[in-house]
Amino acid sequence: MAGHHPHHHHDHDRGGTHLDWEVLGPLLESHAEISTPLLEQAIGWLRGLTAPGAGTVGEVWDVGSGPGVAACLFAQALPAARVLAVDGEDALLRRTRERAARTGVADRLGTLRADLPDGLPAGQADLIWTSRTLHHVGDQRGAVATLAERLRPAGLLAVVEGGLPARRLPRDIGIGRPGLEARLDAATEDWFSRMRAEVPGAKETVEDWPALLAAAGLEQVRSRTFLLDLPAPLDVSVRSYLRAELTRTREGLQDVLDAEDLATLDRLIDPDDEAGVLRRPDVFLLSAQTVHTGVRPAA
Ligand SMILES: C[S@@+](CC[C@H](N)C(=O)[O-])C[C@H]1O[C@@H](n2cnc3c(N)ncnc32)[C@H](O)[C@@H]1O
Repeated sequence: MAGHHPHHHHDHDRGGTHLDWEVLGPLLESHAEISTPLLEQAIGWLRGLTAPGAGTVGEVWDVGSGPGVAACLFAQALPAARVLAVDGEDALLRRTRERAARTGVADRLGTLRADLPDGLPAGQADLIWTSRTLHHVGDQRGAVATLAERLRPAGLLAVVEGGLPARRLPRDIGIGRPGLEARLDAATEDWFSRMRAEVPGAKETVEDWPALLAAAGLEQVRSRTFLLDLPAPLDVSVRSYLRAELTRTREGLQDVLDAEDLATLDRLIDPDDEAGVLRRPDVFLLSAQTVHTGVRPAA
């Protein structure tokens, strides 16, 4: 993350696009923990794609591993594999090592602090997983090409990008103007475009991930989408996560949302309000994430 290291950024970034990954750590970690059923399905699918003869996955890299939830799940699902979690943020790598120790995979899971894409080590991975990270890199096309080069022949690249924005509430929640989440999505898309434009070295790229994988020389390119479907009533951990996420959304979008929607969000994140997401009965979590895969040609 050269050029915009979080610790050099002391302004209150109201409505801005700067992301402090260390501060976001707990949110990333609960998002990934809640997404475990989705991640396990995706990992099961990848295992089928990589190992026609089972147990052949020797080296797995999780690039942009965040707090390491997926990296630990890979280590658990592939007992013969060594997993390398790569991220730019030391604090998140520390969380990863703590999780690896808790989940009993510390002997097969290493961590590496590196800035993407230039800091990636040489070496040949059997499987590279990179989830919701390439969109933070200026040259997304170049980053896909770099990852493809790090695969051994017949190795598999899996890029998690896109899917569907999450739904958490009915269209009409009895307060405010119906359709709040669709308006949050629209405002978030504009925020995302500003964020992309402000990434150092940002290059405009058509975000056609299968085409980017093919352009990097990968074959058997395919995409599959996995669903996270947690119906109401939600348990307290998912509710707390949703409250934290809505709080962050409100902060990021406070300059663009209208007063009525901000007032609705204030009630939704109020822990004492019966209409808040900690207490209302109708809150759920439905989301979808797409995994794009390609195989490096065998020589
Ligand atoms: C949105 S999080 C995704 C975490 C996890 N893979 C997931 O899907 O939940 C993006 C991660 O990429 C890392 N990251 C972003 N830009 C990076 C860069 N240029 N170099 C290294 N790591 C970077 C951040 O530290 C963060 O952990």
